[in-house]
Amino acid sequence: MKLPKNINILDTTLRDGEQAPGVAFTVDEKIQIAQKLDQIGINTIEVGFPRVSDGEKVSARTIKNLGLNANICGLSRVLKEDIDTLIDSDLNYMHTFIGTSKLHRDYKLKMSKEEILEKAIYAVEYGKDHGITVEFSAEDATRTEENYLIEVYKSVESAGADIINVPDTVGVLFPSATKELISKIKNNINIPISIHCHNDFGLAVANSLIAIESGASQAHVTVNGIGERAGNASLDEFVVALKVAYTLDNLKIDTKQLFNLSEYVSKLTGIKIPINKPIVGENAFAHESGIHVHGVLENAATYEPINPEMVGHTRKIALGKHTGANGLKSKLKEYNIEINQEQFSQVYDQIKNLGDKGKTITDADLKAIAITVLGKVKNESIKLVGLTVISGNTVSATATVKLSINNKIEEKSEIGVGPVDAALKAISRLVKEYIDIELEEYNIDAITGGTDALAEVFVIISDSKGNKATGRSTQEDVVLASVDAILNSINKIIAIK
Ligand code: KIV
Ligand code: ZN
Repeated sequence: MKLPKNINILDTTLRDGEQAPGVAFTVDEKIQIAQKLDQIGINTIEVGFPRVSDGEKVSARTIKNLGLNANICGLSRVLKEDIDTLIDSDLNYMHTFIGTSKLHRDYKLKMSKEEILEKAIYAVEYGKDHGITVEFSAEDATRTEENYLIEVYKSVESAGADIINVPDTVGVLFPSATKELISKIKNNINIPISIHCHNDFGLAVANSLIAIESGASQAHVTVNGIGERAGNASLDEFVVALKVAYTLDNLKIDTKQLFNLSEYVSKLTGIKIPINKPIVGENAFAHESGIHVHGVLENAATYEPINPEMVGHTRKIALGKHTGANGLKSKLKEYNIEINQEQFSQVYDQIKNLGDKGKTITDADLKAIAITVLGKVKNESIKLVGLTVISGNTVSATATVKLSINNKIEEKSEIGVGPVDAALKAISRLVKEYIDIELEEYNIDAITGGTDALAEVFVIISDSKGNKATGRSTQEDVVLASVDAILNSINKIIAIK
């Protein structure tokens, strides 16, 4: 396959990614992310839309003046004021856009084809007159009449644009259509072509790859694929596919940093990475079934397309009802837990039992089970002695929790958004000296109907070292069930420390 010699990656996490509902980066966060993107070798970083706010201007200017290797680009409409603000923010790379589809012309812009063409040419010429690099996007290109789209691109090329971008603004492209469109544009245009895919139908990465196959030399991507609606093409998936599936060896991206970058952006945005997300998801290199684990332990390539180290991730042998003896043995070995055959059978049966009930089993759970089977279980070090909660619409929810911690009675009160939140905060403060806890997951189910229904609470708690343990409790009182489940998981983590 003949791919363009040099493929450029434009990362737009800080612009299109930030347009994801609920995402807004501070200036500092933008700087941190830009530095990380530069470190992994991104060619161009779109840092924002300077005309939008003073903060955007400040972050654009600060990032530009950091002297990174990457080109620093900003978005602008085809308006003089937008372009002036962009230049005023010290940027010398402009990504300018105007909608070209009939929908955008008639309903959003209320402009004729000619007026749009005129504005596009004006913006490109204005940018070039000011000596900056100009990337032009025909917004909603993939729903624009093809002849008109080509006319627009040809006109901006003549006006001096350095690169044209083809945005699939609402993610309606599919691979064969992408190939046809990009090939056609390539036959009519001599400047580089870029592709910008949205993921409305889950095809953003596939369409970006086929665009590259068809002659585009740049793709817009975002970390974790965050962006408007269903997001954009995901940086990690696109890069790894190019390197591995397309065997492209001159892509200068340090893939080893992809996992950390993904976690970092997920933390800042609060957008969790789906557990089964390719490349960076928690399960991307996790194996549970006995057959797979057996294969992986002999040679990981049997059930892995790439080594997790390539992207800075780690392999995980998960526990559940599909666990085989080999998998369990390797887990016990990993934690230096030595048990005899009879004890092994007991641990194995318990894992299978929990798995059959559809329960999550963490590594800390396994250690706690093994410790119990070995008879080394410590007495519960933290016990509930008293719990009082006040809640209602006229008071802040308050919880007073009294615990026995290593036989010493301690009490604390906290307020929260509700009694469970208040109780968790009180417990966190009480146990802080021994363990720094974070609630990873909280689920509650009513087992029976009625106001006296039994509540089943399931939690996953983690500590600062990454130990995670589950906790369960079933009681009539929701707050008591929650507190009991939380203490149950804390005791498990303490037991294995
Ligand atoms: O998706 C889109 O059309 C965009 C434009 C600003 C290029 O992000
Ligand atoms: Zn977009």
